[in-house]
Amino acid sequence: MKINIKQIKTKRLLIRRFRKDDLDGIYDYASREKAARYVLWPRHRSRKDTKAFLKETFRHYKKGHTFYYAVELVKTGALIGSVGFIPDAERAAVHGNLEIGYSFNPGYRGKGYCAEAVKALIRETFKKLRIRRIQACCNVKNKASERVMKRAGMKKEGTFRKYMVVKGSIWDIHMYSIIKKGRK
Ligand SMILES: CC(C)(COP(=O)(O)OP(=O)(O)OC[C@H]1O[C@@H](n2cnc3c(N)ncnc32)[C@H](O)[C@@H]1OP(=O)(O)O)[C@@H](O)C(=O)NCCC(=O)NCCS
Repeated sequence: MKINIKQIKTKRLLIRRFRKDDLDGIYDYASREKAARYVLWPRHRSRKDTKAFLKETFRHYKKGHTFYYAVELVKTGALIGSVGFIPDAERAAVHGNLEIGYSFNPGYRGKGYCAEAVKALIRETFKKLRIRRIQACCNVKNKASERVMKRAGMKKEGTFRKYMVVKGSIWDIHMYSIIKKGRK
């Protein structure tokens, strides 16, 4: 199965594929401790890390999978963050299931942009792809992320203790999901 939604428009956002000229915009948030603390990827220490991220992203695009999206503010064209899926096409094809993730520039938080992007990506994915479950998990201390999951209509399934090892720390996580209505 190809995960190949090219772009999504919402009232305030354009959720689109990353481009080469996004390098500085990505680095601007991915290099900040605040943006990378609770994500699986390490903080970008130089633009080399951002280049490697773009290289991986374009490799997926070439194979026909759009796992990672740039989130752009329609009004100004600013790159304000990213939303996407853990790149696992096999899990999508075999189990009809994807895991969503996101990170936004600290300068653009507290405005509902992330929840708007997550909701739109869920809606389009259920509409266009044979996916019946989208899940998200967050470190139990990541209250902002948990609020996004709730605002996006996801339901809590539980708290999994000592579930992940991320950048050398053992994480307890909350698991949330949303199920496509009417799909078996
Ligand atoms: C997770 C993260 C994206 C959440 O950012 P955020 O700005 O809190 O989320 P949103 O963009 O959805 O904004 C929601 C906030 O905007 C407020 N808001 C303002 N205007 C709004 C509007 N028009 N619509 C909705 N909410 C609005 C909401 O009240 C809410 O604030 P609250 O959570 O204090 O109640 C951000 O904390 C982040 O990038 N963290 C680092 C990476 C990370 O942890 N990723 C998740 C890994 S699991």
